[in-house]
Amino acid sequence: MKRITILGATGSIGCNTADVILRHADKFSTHTLVGHQNGDKMVELAQQLHPEWVVMTDEQAAASIQGRLPEGVRLACGMDAAIELAADPASDMVMAAMVGSAGLPATLAAVRSGKRVGLANKECLVTAGRIFMAAARASGAEVVPVDSEHAAVHQCLQGHDAGSVKQVILTASGGPFRDRDPSTLHTVRVEEAVAHPNWDMGAKISIDSATMMNKVLELIEARWLFDLPAEKLSAIIHPESIVHAMVEYQDGSVLAQLAMPDMRMPIAYALQLAPRLATGIPWLDLAKTGTLNFQAVDHARFPAMALVDAVLRGEDALAITLNAANEVANHAFRSGKIGFMDIVSTVETVLSKVENRAVASLDEVWQVDAYARTMAQEVIAR
Ligand SMILES: NC(=O)c1ccc[n+]([C@@H]2O[C@H](COP(=O)([O-])OP(=O)(O)OC[C@H]3O[C@@H](n4cnc5c(N)ncnc54)[C@H](OP(=O)(O)O)[C@@H]3O)[C@@H](O)[C@H]2O)c1
Repeated sequence: MKRITILGATGSIGCNTADVILRHADKFSTHTLVGHQNGDKMVELAQQLHPEWVVMTDEQAAASIQGRLPEGVRLACGMDAAIELAADPASDMVMAAMVGSAGLPATLAAVRSGKRVGLANKECLVTAGRIFMAAARASGAEVVPVDSEHAAVHQCLQGHDAGSVKQVILTASGGPFRDRDPSTLHTVRVEEAVAHPNWDMGAKISIDSATMMNKVLELIEARWLFDLPAEKLSAIIHPESIVHAMVEYQDGSVLAQLAMPDMRMPIAYALQLAPRLATGIPWLDLAKTGTLNFQAVDHARFPAMALVDAVLRGEDALAITLNAANEVANHAFRSGKIGFMDIVSTVETVLSKVENRAVASLDEVWQVDAYARTMAQEVIAR
């Protein structure tokens, strides 16, 4: 029986992880569930999963569920408790599914403790990829991607020589505005931007998909996860979201991974590589799908993608800045403070003001992150 801790249990990935665990109650139990503010969802999950610990990183949310948890489930509060329990030797694996760089300290604690980590939180690798992967190598922690594209690459690499890889190609659906007249994008409303055509996800990543900042983050994530240089990483638009990624080898062979767009597939893969776990996702019927389309990414429509090359080839400060400025701008759009097109232009402006420098410690990561957030707030306030 593997004991699982879920960071970000109350979110979209967290709830999908709970779904897979509940389907395989003979194989998995829950050690700790960590949420932030959604107390009601946490009470529901605790009733279904009966974890040993529940942590709410928000104090008020923790107070709101006091006395509402099933008997025997212990309650803790705050990020320090989440960090401590992420490294608890009593759990075997951590599913890292908090959103944003807020997820970094607890996920890194899990990695440093040598645990297997299912990594949904791409912002961890974008902000601290070098430190994170070095910590995994030092502790022997296995990091298994949960992002569908990276889980696809992971599968396409199994049993193959890493040195023979010519190109890793991540697919992108193009989001809700793939075919919309670009001259109307400045009028996009929040409800339109979060309505992804293929995936049911949290608000932040849905908007990142609409701007395609999500693909920028994913390319940086792939750089660290698979130790690949910028010239071996690319993205292609694939509206059906059936092919999740492709790996091209030196001999011209291209391996692709296909599945219906449902996050329970990569979550199950991260929980247990073999034997494969049943997930309940619909079977892929290619005769019914009929056609799979691919097209090059249009940088005029998706200006975020024009930033990726410089960030991939640059020093760590650029990726940290891009991520922090994007988190601020994404939130500002959701709060009605800026328009849709201002998200990427804010990130671009902040990027143009920072020094392209290497970052060696976590303290430096947070310094660069804080500076970028302040700059982004200033750009937004203008
Ligand atoms: N959803 C997907 O299909 C998908 C696919 C690939 C990768 N990912 C990645 O997985 C991560 C989670 O995405 P999601 O879509 O599941 O997000 P989500 O639905 O918005 O859930 C986010 C989770 O993080 C918690 N959280 C929010 N702010 C926090 C903070 N300041 N401190 C601690 N916890 C905090 C939330 O808690 P409360 O809700 O309790 O406040 C919730 O449990 C992201 O990094 C995303 O890029 C998601």
